Amino acid sequence: MNISVFGTGYVGLVAGACLADVGHQVICMDINAERIALLEAGEIPIYEPGLTELVAQNVATGRLRFTTDTAKAVKESELLFIAVGTPPDEDGSADLRHVLAVARSIGEYMDDYKLVIDKSTVPVGTAEKVQAAIADALNARDLSLDVDVCSNPEFMKEGAAIEDFTRGARIVVGTDSEHVEARMRACYAPYNRNHDKLMFMSVRAAELTKYAANAMLATKISFMNEMANLAERLEVDVEEVRRGIGSDPRIGYHFIYPGCGYGGSCFPKDVQALERTAREYGYHPALLSAVEQVNYQQKQTLFTKLQRTLGDVIGKTIAVWGLAFKPNTDDMREAPSRELMEALWAVGAKVQAYDPEAMAECRRLYGDRHDLILTFDRIQAIKGADALVICTEWKAFRSVDFTWLAGELSEKLVIDGRNLYDVGDMTAAGLRYVGVGRNNLR
Ligand code: UGA
Repeated sequence: MNISVFGTGYVGLVAGACLADVGHQVICMDINAERIALLEAGEIPIYEPGLTELVAQNVATGRLRFTTDTAKAVKESELLFIAVGTPPDEDGSADLRHVLAVARSIGEYMDDYKLVIDKSTVPVGTAEKVQAAIADALNARDLSLDVDVCSNPEFMKEGAAIEDFTRGARIVVGTDSEHVEARMRACYAPYNRNHDKLMFMSVRAAELTKYAANAMLATKISFMNEMANLAERLEVDVEEVRRGIGSDPRIGYHFIYPGCGYGGSCFPKDVQALERTAREYGYHPALLSAVEQVNYQQKQTLFTKLQRTLGDVIGKTIAVWGLAFKPNTDDMREAPSRELMEALWAVGAKVQAYDPEAMAECRRLYGDRHDLILTFDRIQAIKGADALVICTEWKAFRSVDFTWLAGELSEKLVIDGRNLYDVGDMTAAGLRYVGVGRNNLR
């Protein structure tokens, strides 16, 4: 099939490369010329395991092409995926500016039937707005052409995006048209071989499914963070509770890891946008507001714990391991590390930070500052530091010589926002170890 994907962010680029990989002819379009030039030169502007190779292989076969030419992307394909960003508006609702701009260009350039597929995370009712924007642009050209709009939300996680796209649990499509159903079946057939993962539903249900999935996962995390905070006060190790409840298949082990709060480009933005939608429709979303509130507080806990344990952090040098909002990405959007570093700088502390992938991103965000030293490796970050704070659970941080660590850190203090280590091992090495919801600390 001939497919165009508008937007070369995480979702658009991964979807485009994966669809090309199974034999479709794919054009990835972006108005950002610099980004397209990079992609054409074989450089991938984001860190995503396996993506560089996947893109290179499919460019080499000629199945994956890049362009800044909107007209070409519209005219050459029948299936048009909209995968542009929906950043939060000032009031927390999703900003549809980019989505509707793509919709208008489709109406401006199409000259035969098109199936337009909303892949961006968009609020309920957006497909109708996309349809209307295309119709307006067609009217302006005095044209009446057939066009269908369906919803096909994406559930991929950063760091595992290719795996999630190719082997995800489900492929959700919102449409009430049999023709669209048949075309979407054909599009996803290569990824739908062993059992039928395609779920057809109403357009609005598909749009809500995306938000409901992210809000449910965020709720699990905030719930566990609340249990962790309670466990600290009850002198219970929340890790024991996590195993205890996760063993119940109705609860499950996934997304119940307590930590320093969820970050990234999706959960914070999507919970907020859903809350906003609820209010717009006259419903008070008590649970969603609480999920957000707990997460906000949880992101402060690293700094609070540091301050409580040290008494004062002014003038201290704090080593930070992990800057990305989670492992296997260089993304620092809404990352707990940012909350921590900014709080430390505000009271006059110095940060020595290391992350396996997010160093360039950190430099881009904060530039050169006298109170931020980005080190070559995790060991250098510890040198001359008073305490260590762990913000991201990169595999490389899992095995550490605790006795060496105790010898290096003047305050012998480790604040672990991801509960990576055994409390007993840490104390045996002479370290003060403060995790999230562990029994020895408050
Ligand atoms: C999330 C969803 O998991 C994807 O299904 C969805 O497609 C994506 O958003 C999206 O809407 O695009 P992502 O933001 O990449 O994916 O990352 P996650 O792996 O879900 O992690 C989100 C945050 O939750 C991270 O900060 C992580 O550290 C935190 N988390 C996750 C916990 O604190 N505890 C857990 O048990 C799990």
